[in-house]
Amino acid sequence: MTSISQTAGAVALILLFTAGIAHTDGAGDPKAVSSREGEYLDKDGNPTFKVANDGTVDWYTYAGYLRYGANCLQCHGPDGLGSSYAPSLVDSLKTLSYGDFVSTVVSGKKEVNTAQQQVMPSFGTNKNVMCYIDAIYVYLRARSDGALSRQRPEKHAPKTDAYTTAEDSCMG
Ligand code: HEC
Repeated sequence: MTSISQTAGAVALILLFTAGIAHTDGAGDPKAVSSREGEYLDKDGNPTFKVANDGTVDWYTYAGYLRYGANCLQCHGPDGLGSSYAPSLVDSLKTLSYGDFVSTVVSGKKEVNTAQQQVMPSFGTNKNVMCYIDAIYVYLRARSDGALSRQRPEKHAPKTDAYTTAEDSCMG
């Protein structure tokens, strides 16, 4: 019979090995393999960041930094690091997929089991958030993957005409 401690040991060993090869990004490999009008996509077609060797970030990452600051920072803290009220999204994105992220922001979330009632508001009808959801995601993904340090990105790629057109039509 296998003892609990033996099983736990084996599990720990497996985690140790997989940690070496797997990355901690809930959406999988963040490497940008294609781009669509200034937005970078990973191999699964999910939005991702692109940080050049000199630290220049893509426009979405930069726009996401600004939109995060305007709409999420008040609860989730500076640089996505969390606060006493809301969790660190730098940590959350290590396990959350892009789809999970978007649906949480659209619908909100309410932890009912904790003593302190914590509520993530629903942003589904808030254009200031929904028109920039990919940008916010990409910024947090870069933070979560350690590709972007704290503070405002110093250099960023220019805003593209396609981005401006999409933004204008979304904001209406
Ligand atoms: C009024 C405060 C508040 C604001 C503003 C807010 N959140 Fe939240 N958010 C929370 C709280 C509290 C939770 C935890 C809810 C729970 O666990 O039930 C949360 C949870 C989340 C989660 C789920 C995390 C996880 O690990 O499951 C995501 C994703 C998220 N927020 C994204 C955002 C984004 C993006 C913005 C800005 C557009 C934002 N939030 C703005 C309070 C807020």
